Amino acid sequence: NRTLVFKSGDEDFEAGLLKAADIIRTGGTVAFPTETVYGLGADALNADAVHKIFKAKGRPADNPLIVHIANIDQCSKLAEEIPADAIKLMETFWPGPLTLILKAKDVVPDVTTGGLNTVGLRMPDNPVALELIRRSDTPLAAPSANTSGSPSPTTAEHVIHDLDGKIDAILDGGPADIGLESTVVDMTDKVPTILRPGHVSAEDIRKCVGDVRIGYRDRTLEEGEVARSPGMKYTHYSPKTKVILIEGNIKDVHKAMTEIVSDCHREGGRVGLFVTEETAKVVNADEICSLGKRNIPSQAARSIFMGLRHLDDKEIDLIIVDGTLKKEGIGTAVFNRLRKAADRIINV
Ligand code: TXA
Ligand code: MG
Repeated sequence: NRTLVFKSGDEDFEAGLLKAADIIRTGGTVAFPTETVYGLGADALNADAVHKIFKAKGRPADNPLIVHIANIDQCSKLAEEIPADAIKLMETFWPGPLTLILKAKDVVPDVTTGGLNTVGLRMPDNPVALELIRRSDTPLAAPSANTSGSPSPTTAEHVIHDLDGKIDAILDGGPADIGLESTVVDMTDKVPTILRPGHVSAEDIRKCVGDVRIGYRDRTLEEGEVARSPGMKYTHYSPKTKVILIEGNIKDVHKAMTEIVSDCHREGGRVGLFVTEETAKVVNADEICSLGKRNIPSQAARSIFMGLRHLDDKEIDLIIVDGTLKKEGIGTAVFNRLRKAADRIINV
């Protein structure tokens, strides 16, 4: 089965959008750009269509999908008991990189919610995404458009790499602005709880609604621990190549990095570095990919998944990631993804 690709800016893009909406309405799957990462969409209210998403990605059936809408009014059709704080957050951050977990109405099929009684809603801040939702005339269930477990896709090429032939169409809107998935906030308790960090920070949410709790951890769960968000218990973002993240003060990180590179070389291996511009001036290896400037973590956010995919395509035995990046703002979310991607974290 061929996957159709329509590129924003091309002459036939308008026709492509119409075709894509038609595919959604008739129960097919379409990958589309958002401001965070590319999503793989299907009609959220059509269980057969949503099944196709799980099949294409190889996603575990108990991991729920985010439902994407283009209009706040759509919420009342999908969720009940929408708290005042949730409405405040929607009005402040939508369209934007924030997903709110609310009590689901019965119209949302079990396959979409992973069998939970809640549903995650988000209004993406991307004109192609919003136009696709409007023209499909239905909310779109959409996880990230990658093979389950691999780094999230931030370009249409990443989607093609993972899912070509497995999905009906791709809308190519160019590289994603933010590069990291949305902040997920559970609104079903009295105090909003962050289940996944993203561009909208804990501080942003606290400023808006007064109180917020951190409900995620950067490492996967310990044995016997219960996940509040099913996504927490799966391995994430992992390239095939072994990844080591080194954290600590700058000098010690550089020293440890240099030693590991030498050790690997002594055994005849090749090393890839995924490091800040500053570290790249001090440490060398066989392949190098930039996380941007140490003090500007939004640059790392934009390049993290691209970089992991890029290095994973090289003939190397090891990827070393630079933990000297600033941990503030979106840096919190970047470290969350880096720590999940790492096979090993070294604290020096
Ligand atoms: O930025 C994003 O959120 C992107 C774009 C495409 O919108 N989507 C995305 O979807 O990252 P996905 O499926 O890769 O991640 C959704 C996360 C998962 O960890 C899932 O477990 C959690 O959100 N989630 C979804 N619905 C939930 C629910 N009802 N309760 C708890 N967690 C939920
Ligand atoms: Mg994902």
